[in-house]
Amino acid sequence: MPNKNFLRPTWAEIKLPALRSNLLKIQDIIGPRAKLMFVVKADAYGHGAVKAAGFAEREKLAWGFGVSSVEEGAVLRGAGIVSPILILGGLYPFNSFVEAINLDLMVTISSLDAARQVIEASRSLGKKAACHIKLETGMGRIGARKPSVIKIFEELSGSRNVVIGGLYTHLACADSDPEFTAKQLGYFAETAGELAKYGVNGVIRHAANSAGLVAYPGSRWEMVRAGLAAYGLMEGFEPVLSWKTKIIFIKTVREGAYVSYGKSFKAPRPMKVATIPVGYGDGYVRRLSNKASVLVAGRKCPVIGNVTMDMTMIDVTDIGDAGVGSDVVLIGRQGGDEVGARELAELAGTIPYEVVTLITSRVPRIHI
Ligand SMILES: Cc1ncc(COP(=O)(O)O)c(C=O)c1O
Repeated sequence: MPNKNFLRPTWAEIKLPALRSNLLKIQDIIGPRAKLMFVVKADAYGHGAVKAAGFAEREKLAWGFGVSSVEEGAVLRGAGIVSPILILGGLYPFNSFVEAINLDLMVTISSLDAARQVIEASRSLGKKAACHIKLETGMGRIGARKPSVIKIFEELSGSRNVVIGGLYTHLACADSDPEFTAKQLGYFAETAGELAKYGVNGVIRHAANSAGLVAYPGSRWEMVRAGLAAYGLMEGFEPVLSWKTKIIFIKTVREGAYVSYGKSFKAPRPMKVATIPVGYGDGYVRRLSNKASVLVAGRKCPVIGNVTMDMTMIDVTDIGDAGVGSDVVLIGRQGGDEVGARELAELAGTIPYEVVTLITSRVPRIHI
């Protein structure tokens, strides 16, 4: 067994050396002057936020961390993480600001209302609040346009309890639309220039996500916020997560036999069929039914029939020595072959972010 703490042989391995090499590579790309914010929201895209951030902090691989909520920040603070943490999400209800300030979490401010609330929260606590103002440049999610950003800036600057730590935006298609990205970056530069007239110092300007930091040197400013590249889910970086299981049952079926719910697979010939203890209840999504392959003995074996909640069937007819207990790789390398999260994403009609983030808490994460 991979670990004494669980019996069902389905687990994810998180290779911390690969994470280190990706974070070092990002730092190398952006140069020593730009800071690296390691985005660890959604439990570090399914990689385990406490372990991933703890490792990055110990090894001094990141300046700080990006999370999506007070709750995610609280988990990191509870685990002893002391680096700067920015809540990238919009905060509501506004009393979330009190909790965030108490935990020394930097907050994102996207409206004048939120600015006033954070000032009030910091005043009532008698504690400084660190804010990053969010500029809307084309993502259409949270953020204020330039005139409102200037008003927010003036409002926050008027408070002794607030520190304006940053101005930022988020790129909507840095991996696909250079023209749109250039427009976003142009508007960001224009707004940053306008704010500079107020003589502000020490405000970290940041815009780049992983795709941005690689493709647009001009997007790097004083900081980048990287998730995808850090987890090796992008071309040129090393995958950090592998997902493994073992065969728990094996049988032969006759030609014409059906496999799984809904009769979506009918054996075209006598076949050796193995069952693996993983299903959509683990985040191995049902859309992979009859599409994905897994690795057994270093060779690709197709998933046959519908993925069920807890079990999935695979065709091991050509794997002579496959038997109960054989190692199976759902994501990762085995022998000379590989199944990548990006490949699964394509088969399931989604993006690699979703493939790894959907791996449920039922799957133990083993950090190596
Ligand atoms: C605001 C913000 N910044 C940065 C990131 C990191 O993006 P990526 O994982 O593409 O590097 C995200 C992720 O979705 C985000 O929402």
